[in-house]
Amino acid sequence: MPRFENEPDPVFWELNASLRFDVRLAPYDIRQSRAHARALRGAGVLDDGELEALLGALDRVAAELEGGEFPFEPGDEDVHMAIERRLTEIAGPVGGKIHTGRSRNDQVATDLALFVAERADAGRSLLLDCLERIHALADEHRAAPMPGYTHLQRAQPVTLGHHLLAWFWMLRRDADRFGAARSAAGAMPLGSGALAGINWDLDRAAVAAELGFGSLVENSIDAVSNRDFALDYLGAASTCATHLSRIGAEIVLWSTSEFGFCRPAEEFSSGSSIMPQKMNPDAAELLRARAPRVSADLMTLTGVLHALPLAYSKDLQEDKEPLFDAADAIELGLRALAGMLVGIEFDLERMASAASDEMAAATDVADLLVRRGLPFREAHAVVGGLVRHALEAGIPLSAIPRGELAAFSELLDEEYYEVLRGGEWLASKVSRGGASPEAIAAQLELAAASLAELRG
Ligand code: ARG
Repeated sequence: MPRFENEPDPVFWELNASLRFDVRLAPYDIRQSRAHARALRGAGVLDDGELEALLGALDRVAAELEGGEFPFEPGDEDVHMAIERRLTEIAGPVGGKIHTGRSRNDQVATDLALFVAERADAGRSLLLDCLERIHALADEHRAAPMPGYTHLQRAQPVTLGHHLLAWFWMLRRDADRFGAARSAAGAMPLGSGALAGINWDLDRAAVAAELGFGSLVENSIDAVSNRDFALDYLGAASTCATHLSRIGAEIVLWSTSEFGFCRPAEEFSSGSSIMPQKMNPDAAELLRARAPRVSADLMTLTGVLHALPLAYSKDLQEDKEPLFDAADAIELGLRALAGMLVGIEFDLERMASAASDEMAAATDVADLLVRRGLPFREAHAVVGGLVRHALEAGIPLSAIPRGELAAFSELLDEEYYEVLRGGEWLASKVSRGGASPEAIAAQLELAAASLAELRG
């Protein structure tokens, strides 16, 4: 006698069923069912023949799913029920034994952890592709001058290689964040049952080893309630997407006629349907615009988990769509960036001429005065006066006549003009992490070592 007399309301069914999105977990579900079946054999729940029958049927279910021939039915509520139903159709009543000592609560948490572990690894490896390319570009352009910006105003000269290395470190940290999410997903929930544990002493460690988990979740309530690993993954993806948006925004800016610093890869650009001359940096624009959606996915799961009592509640079914959406978005974004960086062309001459703007040497003139004993704050004011005078007179700083310099500071002499000539602006940025050739060379080496560590 079943518990329910009435059929579910169709509206409830539509709300409650998760098959349309959780079917994506099928490969993980099958994998864990194989391992679980072996554990059931180990505990004496199944005999050898039953184990063989279940494993054979699972193979067939897997093949049907892969081949797109799996006969879904309207009554399949979620991927776990669909697979078990089909398993029983194929194997007969022994199929009904697969769910011994297992609940969909520990089952779905296990599928999800397997999914996150795989996606986190994929994120790291896609980042590695981008990082290798960025490192090569930075090496190639280590000495190519370009203006550095603050407030998007020309600030001080740097080199293109130096700027690209800033991208490098930004994304390198993302790889570590995906690595941390990978570790968080490395503890196996399976064997926890609905919440209290199970009535069979299954060899959880053997199951974990078969599935590639490094450890076990040590508390059965935590095992079915925990989605931290998904939050960690979404956090990594959200930060990474934010970084992609900043890189995308720079490529968009740099490719304008106003900047003219780069020409985006044609393969990642589009034309206009009306203006024949146009080449639009669509891929860079989309990197810029897709970040908030990944952050929203993180917010969605945070919201689902907020104040949610332990252990399992159906709320947790809402963990999947944001997770899948973020994984697809971030992986596509990273593949796009890697591709864009293959065909991008930099206009080094244009960058160099923008970087030779004398105004960019204002700090260096101030430092000249500092070397002659003036406190920096006073030197800053002297140079401010020179800049105002030059702007008002409509002349470059170096056109202020020698005879007028003393009116700004007695400490100024011929070296003022030498500093403005510019050869030394970059060479003088000797601090570790700075824009001098030596500092950039050291940085490139550190970056290469950090890449090797990521590869290994
Ligand atoms: N489809 C469900 C989910 O994704 C599976 C777990 C259902 N568990 C339950 N006690 N109804 O969360």
